[in-house]
Amino acid sequence: MAEGGAETSSRVVLETRDVSKQYRLEGVEVNALQAVSIAIRAGEMVSIMGPSGSGKSTLMHIIGLLDQPTSGKVILEGDDISSLSPNELAEQRNKHIGFVFQSFNLLSRTSAQANVELPLVYAGVSGAERVRRAKEALEHVGLGNRLGHFSSQLSGGQQQRVAIARALVNDPSIVLADEPTGNLDSRSGIEVMAMLQELNAQGITVVIVTHDDRIARHAQRVIRVFDGRVKAEEIVRDRVLAAQELAALSAEEVTG
Ligand SMILES: Nc1ncnc2c1ncn2[C@@H]1O[C@H](COP(=O)(O)OP(=O)(O)OP(=O)(O)O)[C@@H](O)[C@H]1O
Ligand SMILES: [Mg+2]
Repeated sequence: MAEGGAETSSRVVLETRDVSKQYRLEGVEVNALQAVSIAIRAGEMVSIMGPSGSGKSTLMHIIGLLDQPTSGKVILEGDDISSLSPNELAEQRNKHIGFVFQSFNLLSRTSAQANVELPLVYAGVSGAERVRRAKEALEHVGLGNRLGHFSSQLSGGQQQRVAIARALVNDPSIVLADEPTGNLDSRSGIEVMAMLQELNAQGITVVIVTHDDRIARHAQRVIRVFDGRVKAEEIVRDRVLAAQELAALSAEEVTG
């Protein structure tokens, strides 16, 4: 497939219009986001890039319906979700969005299988169906032989793949990943990026938050934020393909 990605349509799946977010902490106001308007199209892989404190995680929480803006609108699949109740937001989130975090956020003395089943428990899916779908998701990320391992018995890269399986198990159309390689060694990081590129090639819209330019260039497009504002948006000309990076690493190891 050209550029290793799926066809990107012109349909906007996720949009912010003039989104601002203020935090008030001990009387001090922080403008974490100021009039941010972005649009993510179906099938795209986009990076949101910026330095520490620029508002990336705040923006991800808002587009992931984990938090609401102080002002402005968020539109998911054409619906303005600004006025939804917390329960309705949770329902929309579970239906459309999967999350991957820097710190994996897995339960430690719990098997990979049970971690991946968790979103299905919340969604009220029956036991047998849960087992089947969690197993399928873990097989999808290459961990079919680690179903019974506790998170604490898995490598960092494997834990992040469990987290990706958990993000996929509800069949979301969008995966949001906040610094998904931040806690990984470089090879495991590349493996995780390969997985995200592969999911994207299968049609899932992927948004990655990162401060790392090389990670950002695995996407087709980069949105740069600075001081809570969108500073630039650009198409990635020299997109990094993680599968090629992995092949190069393996070749290096063989030749020593
Ligand atoms: N819950 C909060 N209460 C008060 N201020 C907050 C809160 N969360 C974030 N902020 C502030 O908002 C700004 C944006 O934070 P955010 O976490 O979105 O940055 P970031 O780009 O994700 O940074 P990093 O790369 O370090 O993760 C920062 O100045 C931060 O201190
Ligand atoms: Mg952050």
